[in-house]
Amino acid sequence: MTSLTPRPGILDIAPYVPGASKIQGVERIIKLSSNEGALGPSPQAIAAYRGMADTLHRYPDGGSVELRTAIGTLHGLDPDRIVCGAGSDEVLGLLARAYAGPGDEVLFGEHAFTMYPLFALGVGATPVKAPENDYTVTVNALLAKVTERTRILYLANPNNPTGTMLTKDEVTALRGGLRDDILLVIDAAYAEYVTRNDYTAGIELVDAGDNVVMTRTFSKIYALGAVRLGWAYCPESVADVLNRIRPPFNVTSAAQAAGVAAINDVEFLTRSRDHNTAWLPWLAERMEECGLAVVPSFGNFVLVRFPEDGIHDAASAMEFLASLGIIPRSTASAGIPSGIRITVGVEDEMRAVVNAVTEFMSR
Ligand SMILES: Cc1ncc(COP(=O)(O)O)c(C=O)c1O
Repeated sequence: MTSLTPRPGILDIAPYVPGASKIQGVERIIKLSSNEGALGPSPQAIAAYRGMADTLHRYPDGGSVELRTAIGTLHGLDPDRIVCGAGSDEVLGLLARAYAGPGDEVLFGEHAFTMYPLFALGVGATPVKAPENDYTVTVNALLAKVTERTRILYLANPNNPTGTMLTKDEVTALRGGLRDDILLVIDAAYAEYVTRNDYTAGIELVDAGDNVVMTRTFSKIYALGAVRLGWAYCPESVADVLNRIRPPFNVTSAAQAAGVAAINDVEFLTRSRDHNTAWLPWLAERMEECGLAVVPSFGNFVLVRFPEDGIHDAASAMEFLASLGIIPRSTASAGIPSGIRITVGVEDEMRAVVNAVTEFMSR
């Protein structure tokens, strides 16, 4: 008798562990573990979400037409080449399902977003990591790992959990160095936070050919993680493929309504970005003043590295912070056991985490 067995690769998947949100016995939590927008969602998005309550018996618009039109208008994109998903996670996973399979390789950086290996293993492909320099992927290291079996390269830009980024010239050189039959997926989840003018989220690279996709999310600066909403801007052929394999009603009505309202609240987006632009360097500088190494970040979080001295190490810091109700994210699962990733929060959260780390480091 043979037993029921999943496809090869599935049992190699260690399920994704989300940022913690609770500590037993602690009532007031400061949650800085999931890079959720500090100011929360736009009040208009909340109102739009509530406004859907009376039509919960109706299926959503399977084509997310109004939402894709709003996204297209904001970014100057053809809505027909936008595909929405239940979070960008869904779209990133669908790309793996469509373009990789057993025998294929899926490439990304050593400390890339921890879902990428799961997407690869989930379709029976082999995840391949390219070494990084100072927590930054390099074009040369990625290209050196390309083989004839490479099918997809995932590039989070900026990357989570390191916060580092490649410039527009570097991403362009990366695409230029890849074979045409390799899909470059530029995951620009944190694009709205980047203030450098040598950055690109990748739109013009998508437009330049038929083998680049850019993904975006409503979970970070738009702070709508709970509704699960993300999207991809694709070449026509890739949009067609994604529309064939995505579930027909993958984006809920409430998510679509909240997304449209969030996009239209430009003032709130600006306020959220300005908040981050002010508090990201403040947080990084305070951590450095504690004697900690901070990786330069272009997102809404910083990767802080703790000494491996058995007293002030990252695991002990996590414990100490938890005792005060503060929850950042250990980066051990991303291969950085000395690191803690701290999301930019509101002012009193920032002051609380800085005070706590200062106290921890002076012990
Ligand atoms: C780089 C990156 N990509 C994608 C995601 C997934 O976001 P979501 O599925 O909420 O859109 C995240 C979330 O942490 C991320 O950091």
